[in-house]
Parts: sequence; structure tokens; C-alpha cells
Amino acid sequence: MRLKGKVAVITGSAKGIGRATALEFAKEGASVVVNYAKSETAAEETAKEIGSRSIVVKADVSKKEDVETLMKVTVKKFGRLDILVNNAGHSSDKAWLAELNDIDDALWYSALDIDLKGTFLCSRAASKIMLKQGSGKIVNVSSIPALVGDERGLVYTVAKAGILGLTKALARMFAPKIQVNAMVLGSIKTGWIDWLDKKELTEIMSAIPLKRLGKPEDVAKLAAFLASNDSDFITGQTIIIDGGETMF
Ligand SMILES: NC(=O)c1ccc[n+]([C@@H]2O[C@H](COP(=O)([O-])OP(=O)(O)OC[C@H]3O[C@@H](n4cnc5c(N)ncnc54)[C@H](OP(=O)(O)O)[C@@H]3O)[C@@H](O)[C@H]2O)c1
Repeated sequence: MRLKGKVAVITGSAKGIGRATALEFAKEGASVVVNYAKSETAAEETAKEIGSRSIVVKADVSKKEDVETLMKVTVKKFGRLDILVNNAGHSSDKAWLAELNDIDDALWYSALDIDLKGTFLCSRAASKIMLKQGSGKIVNVSSIPALVGDERGLVYTVAKAGILGLTKALARMFAPKIQVNAMVLGSIKTGWIDWLDKKELTEIMSAIPLKRLGKPEDVAKLAAFLASNDSDFITGQTIIIDGGETMF
């Protein structure tokens, strides 16, 4: 068990990739804080599946006070914090499909506040605890458009690109005690698939050499590696997990 005795906060872990990561970390021996903003029932279910080594904490990652409470409750319950996975992300078809001239302030800040500012706030709050402990792992979540662009999802792309810069800055700032890395995800089968029509899905699949969408569990296994001591000599990296869709 690679994460035995470790304590992990996984933001947005009620469903999707966050949930799979919470379950994988628990399987690897970690105690897990399941965080949600809106999906209370799903969060309770995830925590129930893990059992006594899990608690549920409601916190909006874009709000400083919520984030500080999230970390405080974690330490109060489990006594430490070893791993932070910044998984929470804004997802809406409106943001993804918006035309250039329809991007107003609300849309602009939607993904920037949750994905980018949320990652910053959580990393800063977690680092205070991890630096005192002398060790820690931060795993961020980015996306292929941050590397290659996309005709759509401009605000999302900007937020996810910001996360890559933040990853490198924090990796240097927190070294050598804390390792900070980013996973760059390709097409992973979660709720967003519902926005696509059959033609789009076929196009996406045909661009993936491994001929399938990623599973949340595929991402969870990479997150577990980056959260474990097996990755102790890796920091500031962007690690692509996309079935070979992009090959750099
Ligand atoms: N699926 C893909 O193909 C793909 C590709 C690239 C990157 N990603 C990234 O992977 C991450 C997980 O996405 P997913 O596919 O699993 O989608 P998802 O099921 O929609 O998960 C998004 C999670 O973020 C949480 N969240 C949203 N706003 C939040 C806030 N203000 N505070 C705390 N939590 C918040 C949601 O929780 P509530 O419901 O409780 O609000 C939800 O659990 C996201 O960062 C996404 O951008 C996904």
C-alpha cells in the first residue's frame, strides 16, 4: 500500500475523477478528506464507500475562508496533511461553447476562480502545514488545451494553462520539502461526455491512438503515483495522460 498512513485532501471528490482518486487513495491506505461544493449526497456516498478513514468537508475552493476551514478540519480530524490533489474544476457547457464575444466577466472568472485561484488557495493553505511537517505532495489537474489550445473553451484553457505555471512556481518555492506536479488530462469519461454529440465523440476517439477514452481510474492511478514516495525525485513536471492523443 503506497499511501499507508498518509492523509489526503482531494478537492471536488464527490464524483468523477476526484471520486475515483479518493477511492484509489483509500485502497492504497490513505485517510481521505472528501471535499464538495454542491454535491453533498454524492460526497457522503464516496466517504461511506471508504469508511472510517474518510470525512466529508463542504468548501468552495475559490473562497479563502472555506479553504482554510478545509485544511483546519483535516488536521483536527487526522492530525496531519500529506497530500493535496487540486481536482476541483468548473464545468459547464455554457463556458465551453461560449463564442468569443459572449465571454463576459462572469464567464471569465468562472473557471479562473475555481480552477486557478482554487488551486492557488488550496496549495498555499496546505503548504503551511506540509512545510511545518517537512514533507508533502501537491498534485494539480490541467488539461490538453493548456498545451495545444482549442477552438473552444477559451477561459477553461487559460485557467488550466495558469495551473501549469503555478505548478512550476510552487515546485521551486516549496522545494525540497514539497513536490508539486501537474497531470495534464486528455479525454476522460466523466459527466462532460453528455455535452458531445455522436459525431464529436467519434472524432475524439479517432484522434486517440489507444482507441478509448480515459477512465477516471486511469487518472487516479497516476495521482496515486505522484502522491506517493515512488515519485520523490519528480517535481515541477507536467505529466500527460491522454491515450497518446498528443505526443511531445
Ligand atoms: N473529464 C475530462 O475529460 C477532463 C479533461 C481535462 C481535465 N479535467 C479536469 O479534471 C477535474 C475533474 O473533472 P471531472 O471530469 O471529474 O468533472 P466533474 O465530475 O464535473 O468534477 C468536477 C468537480 O469539481 C467540483 N467543484 C466545482 N466547483 C467547485 C468549488 N467551487 N469548490 C469545490 N469543488 C468544486 C465539483 O463538485 P460539486 O459538484 O460539489 O460542485 C466536482 O466534484 C477538473 O479539474 C477538470 O477540469 C477533466
